[in-house]
Amino acid sequence: MNFLSGKHILVGVCGGIAAYKSAELVRLLRGAGARVRVVMTASAGEFVGPRTFQALTGEAVWQGWSDDRSGMDHIELARWADRVLIAPATADVLARLAQGRADDLLAAICLATSAPLLVAPAMNQAMWGHPATQANAAVLCERGVRLCGPATGEQACGDIGAGRMLEPPLLLQAISDSFGRGLLAGLKVLVTAGPTREALDPVRFLSNRSSGKMGYAVAAAAREAGAEVTLISGPVSLDRPAGVALVRVESAQQMLEAVMQRAGACDIFVAAAAVADYQPAETASRKLKRQSAELTLKLKPAPDILATVAGLPAAPFCVGFAAETENLRHNAHKKRLGKGIAMLAANLVGPDLGFDVDENALLVVWEGGELHIEKDTKYRVALRLVEQIAGRYQASPHDKHTESHAEHSA
Ligand code: C5P
Repeated sequence: MNFLSGKHILVGVCGGIAAYKSAELVRLLRGAGARVRVVMTASAGEFVGPRTFQALTGEAVWQGWSDDRSGMDHIELARWADRVLIAPATADVLARLAQGRADDLLAAICLATSAPLLVAPAMNQAMWGHPATQANAAVLCERGVRLCGPATGEQACGDIGAGRMLEPPLLLQAISDSFGRGLLAGLKVLVTAGPTREALDPVRFLSNRSSGKMGYAVAAAAREAGAEVTLISGPVSLDRPAGVALVRVESAQQMLEAVMQRAGACDIFVAAAAVADYQPAETASRKLKRQSAELTLKLKPAPDILATVAGLPAAPFCVGFAAETENLRHNAHKKRLGKGIAMLAANLVGPDLGFDVDENALLVVWEGGELHIEKDTKYRVALRLVEQIAGRYQASPHDKHTESHAEHSA
């Protein structure tokens, strides 16, 4: 989805070596259909000339308050902007923004605007690592400023470390993503993630290789899109995504109970957990002793959480996941219908795919459509998935979202 077409992007350029990359950034923004205006700080002019930006944007370039003496540039530009992106953002501008100063046009715009602010820090690694800069960055993050980068690598000064400006294509992506925010505003989203543990005895359990990364990424992306998110998680070693309510459980039964307590009140349910399909028919109350004879375990089906939620009389919009080892498309459509859910995201699992890795690719299917989300970080894949969920949710009848309803109402 191209969120940038027709959007007003104000690019702030500060004095740093990376300023030459801002020209490429502006070119990419224009290519994506955005209108771009550039505000340069006094020292930016020592690294790159205003004419470059003028030619690329087709607009005037501001290097300070203009001469028309109205003194209102900061207000006009603050109102004009849908987003303000400072790239490169020097240690100095981070410090001034953290203090709320208005000592140049760019800083004044940042104070005056209600548009979301993104900053791409670029500086020497020691300057970035300095507690003062870190504290300034933390203050800005707390206020909702989106920090893009910095990247790690070789620096112009010869040092190696964190402080490189994020490459222009990644900045383009970040600003595009920022418009994806709000797609789920006002909605309650319930997400399951991670594996479950099915106890054999007090010390042993049956489980699987799920790391929970995909479900956590979906929860974070849904939060980013403005939803109120509750994440029901099996045992994983991941931090709680910012702004997400987290409920930790162990077994499929506990996950079912935690989900059912909340399913009636949620608008969208995303089942990303790798819930056990089977659980021991009995759980021994004492540790099973080693024996020389063969031991046969009797298993019974675990509750199907997703199918249970999808079967509720007023079911939320249900999204399932499916890990497949072959025949992805066929199995995806079949499983979606079988579970009676609105949408299913299927991914191939194998040695380097799917479970316990940082990247994923998905085939998302729904009634009459499908979307291939190319291999990327799980977070980026989750952002795309959330966009798709938001689109399908808006397009569907809101009273009930299961297949049977679609059939009845057809
Ligand atoms: O049938 P299968 O296990 O492949 O279905 C996967 C989907 O169903 C996932 O969305 C998973 O979270 C959900 N599921 C569930 N409860 C189970 C098994 C799977 O919610 N017991």
